[in-house]
Amino acid sequence: MNADGRTRLNQSPEWTALAKHREELDGLGLRELFAADPGRGEGYTLQVGDLHVDYSKHLVTDETLRLLRELAAARDVSGLRDAMFRGEKINVTEKRAVLHTALRAPRDAVVEVDGENVVPKVHAVLDKMAAFADRVRSGEWTGHTGKRIKNVVNVGIGGSDLGPAMAYEALRAYTDRSLTLRFVSNVDGADLHEATRDLDPAETLFIIASKTFTTIETITNATSARNWLLTGLKAGQEAVARHFVALSTNAGKVTEFGIDPDNMFEFWDWVGGRYSYDSAIGLSLMIAIGPDRFREMLGGFHTVDEHFRTAPAESNVPLLLGLLGVWYGNFHDAQSHAVLPYSHYLSKFTAYLQQLDMESNGKSVDREGRPVEWQTGPVVWGTPGTNGQHAYYQLIHQGTELIPADFVGFAEPVGELSQALKAQHDLLMANFFAQTQALAFGKTADEVRAEGVPEELVAHKTFKGDHPTTTILARELTPSVIGQLVALYEHKVFVQGAIWNIDSFDQWGVELGKVLAKRVEPALTEGADVPGLDASTKALVAKYRELRGR
Ligand code: F6P
Repeated sequence: MNADGRTRLNQSPEWTALAKHREELDGLGLRELFAADPGRGEGYTLQVGDLHVDYSKHLVTDETLRLLRELAAARDVSGLRDAMFRGEKINVTEKRAVLHTALRAPRDAVVEVDGENVVPKVHAVLDKMAAFADRVRSGEWTGHTGKRIKNVVNVGIGGSDLGPAMAYEALRAYTDRSLTLRFVSNVDGADLHEATRDLDPAETLFIIASKTFTTIETITNATSARNWLLTGLKAGQEAVARHFVALSTNAGKVTEFGIDPDNMFEFWDWVGGRYSYDSAIGLSLMIAIGPDRFREMLGGFHTVDEHFRTAPAESNVPLLLGLLGVWYGNFHDAQSHAVLPYSHYLSKFTAYLQQLDMESNGKSVDREGRPVEWQTGPVVWGTPGTNGQHAYYQLIHQGTELIPADFVGFAEPVGELSQALKAQHDLLMANFFAQTQALAFGKTADEVRAEGVPEELVAHKTFKGDHPTTTILARELTPSVIGQLVALYEHKVFVQGAIWNIDSFDQWGVELGKVLAKRVEPALTEGADVPGLDASTKALVAKYRELRGR
C-alpha cells in the first residue's frame, strides 16, 4: 500500500492488465499493425504547439493506449500534476515546491508558494536580466578598463551549465555573432584553460552560475577565473565588479566570493537545477540571443505547460510519451532510450536530456522510501543524425536490445546557409525518414532472398524491424520550438516519476561521491592517511602519487 492508500504499482489491477495485454500482443509486429489499419500513419499523430508528434511506429494498439491511460488515471498523474502547478511541496524529501512552470508564466498569472504569488518576482528578475543583457549587447556595459565586452564565459555545472550550453548551440543562428560565448563546467583545469587561452581579460565577462554557490567545481573554476582576470588586467579586487556576475539562490555566498549583490540574478529553491535554464541561469543565453528571443522561448515552454495542464488524456503529448516509456521499460524490458536529433544545432540536446531524465528518475526507492519493485528511469543517450548512423545505429537495427528512440527533425534549415548548403537539408531529412522506416519495418529474409543475396548471407542482411520510434517534426528550430521541446521532455519525465511513485525532484545519489571526493583529496595532495579508504582505492591513490612523483 502507498501513503495515499493506493495498492503498490506492480500489484495494481491496471499493471496486471498491461502485463497480460503484453503477453497477448506478443508476436504482433508493426507490419501487421499497419496492414490492419491503413489510417494508422495519420491517425496515430498529435500536435502540441509547433510540434507534430507521430507515434504510429510504436508497438501499441488502441487497447494498449487505453490500458496505459487507465494506469495513469489510477496512479493519479493528473492529481500530482495539478499539485505541482499549484505550488504544493511535491518534492517530498526536500520539502520543496516544484515550480519551473512559474518561470514561464505570463506576467498576470498567479502562482503561490506558501501564500506568496511568485510571478511578480520571476518577472522582476527577467526584467533585470533583460536590462543587463541589453547593456552588454549594446556595448554600454564595459569592462574595468573601459573596453567593450566581447566574450561571455558561463562557469557552472550540471543544471547550471547544460541548459544554457545546449540552448546556445540550438539557437546559434539567432545569436549576436560578434559575441563569443563559452561554457566552462569541468573542474579539470583544461576546461577553463581552453575557454580562456585566446581571450582578452579586458573584454571578458564571467557569469558564475550556481544555485547553491557551494558546488566545488564551480567555485574552484570561478576562483581560477578571477585570478586569471586580475593577473591579466594587473588589477585589484575592484576589477571584479565589471567582469563577474552571479546567478544563484545564495546571496550570502555570492557576496562572500566578492561579487556585488547588485550583479546577482536571483532564483529560488523551488527551481530544481536541471529545470532551471529558463530562470536567471539562462542569462548567458539571453545575452547571446537577446531578451525578445528569450521571451519567445519562454512562450514556447508555456504553450506546452498549458497543453500538459489542460489537454485531455487522449491528446496529451507529454502523457503519451511518458506512458510509452513505461510500456517499453516495464513491459518490454527496454533499458535505454535514444534521442536522435536530426539537426546539427541540437548537438547538446541529448546530453541535456540525460541530466533532466536520469538525475530525475534514476531512483530505486519510492516516495515512501521503500525499494521499488519495477524498473525506473532508462539510460538516455544519442547524438545528432546522421553521424550516429555510421556509429551505433547498427546495434539499434540488429543488436539484441530493444531501444525505443525519438527522432527529432525540422522541415526547414535555419541560419544563413548558402543555397547549396540549404539544399543538403533534404538529404538529411531523407535519412531521418528512412531510418524510422527501416527500424519499424525492417527487411524480411524473403525480401533479402528476392534481391539475389546468397543464402549464407541472408540472416546477416535480414532486419527484424519492430524497433519503436516517435517522430517529432517541426517546421523550423526557433526559440519557441526549443522551449516547447524542453517542456515536452520535462513533463514526460514528470509523468514517469508519477507512475513509478518516485521523487523526480531530488538527487541524493550525487551526494556520496561529492563527500568522498572531499575526503580523498588530502590523500592525493599530502599523502594523508584517510580513514575509511578501502584497499582498492588506497592502492590506486598510492599509484597515483607514485606516478606524480610524490
Ligand atoms: O549534480 C548535482 C547538482 O546538484 C545538480 O542537480 C545541479 O544542477 C548541479 O549539481 C549544480 O549545482 P549548483 O547549481 O548548485 O552549482
